[in-house]
Amino acid sequence: MLRLFSLVVFCSIVGFTTARCLPGDASFEDFCFSFNRLQGSFNDSQAHCIKSVGGSLVPIYNMIENNWIQKFAVDYLDADYDLFWIGASDAGHIQDWRWTDNVPLNFTNWKQGEPLEDRHCGTMSVASGKWFSELCTSKHQFVCQYPASDYPTGASYTCPPCPSCSK
Ligand SMILES: *[C@@H]1O[C@H](CO)[C@@H](O)[C@H](O)[C@H]1NC(C)=O
Ligand SMILES: *[C@@H]1O[C@H](CO)[C@@H](O)[C@H](O)[C@H]1NC(C)=O
Repeated sequence: MLRLFSLVVFCSIVGFTTARCLPGDASFEDFCFSFNRLQGSFNDSQAHCIKSVGGSLVPIYNMIENNWIQKFAVDYLDADYDLFWIGASDAGHIQDWRWTDNVPLNFTNWKQGEPLEDRHCGTMSVASGKWFSELCTSKHQFVCQYPASDYPTGASYTCPPCPSCSK
C-alpha cells in the first residue's frame, strides 16, 4: 500500500512538472537541441527542424558551443556515419557562408582545405568536431536548435533522458 502510494505521488509529480526542452532533447544555455539520426538533404533537414520543434539547423557561434555539440553528437548520433548537418550554407550567395537565419558566420571550424568551392552546405564530423562542406542534396544526420521554454512532460515520460545510455 505504501509502495503504491509512493508510486502515485512520484507519477503525479512527473505528470505535472515541466522541462526546459522536449523529452529526449539536450539543453545548453537558453537553447534545446534535438539530434536526428534520420538522414536528409540540407533543405529537408532544415524543413524538419522547423516543422518538428519550431527551430532550425543548429548555428554555432564559438568553440565552446562547437565542443558541446560534438560531445553530445557522440552520444546521440551514429558515430559510424560521422557527418551531420549544421545550419551553415553559401547556397545562393557563393563564398558568403551564413546560418539559416541569414546571419554571416562569425566563427568557423572548417577542416583545413574546407570549404570546397563546389559544395555549399556545412556539416560537422562527430569524430573531430571539424566542419566539412558537402553537396546540399547529399543526405546526412542533423541537429536542430530551438529556444528553451516550459514544455509539459507527458505522463508517459517518466525517465530522465540518458544521453550515454544509447551507446
Ligand atoms: C533549398 O532552399 C532554398 C531556400 O528555400 C532554395 O533557394 C533552394 O533552391 C533549395 N535548394 C534545393 C537543392 O532544393
Ligand atoms: C557571433 O554572432 C552571434 C549571433 O549574431 C552573436 O550572438 C555572437 O555574440 C557573435 N560573436 C562574436 C564573437 O562576435
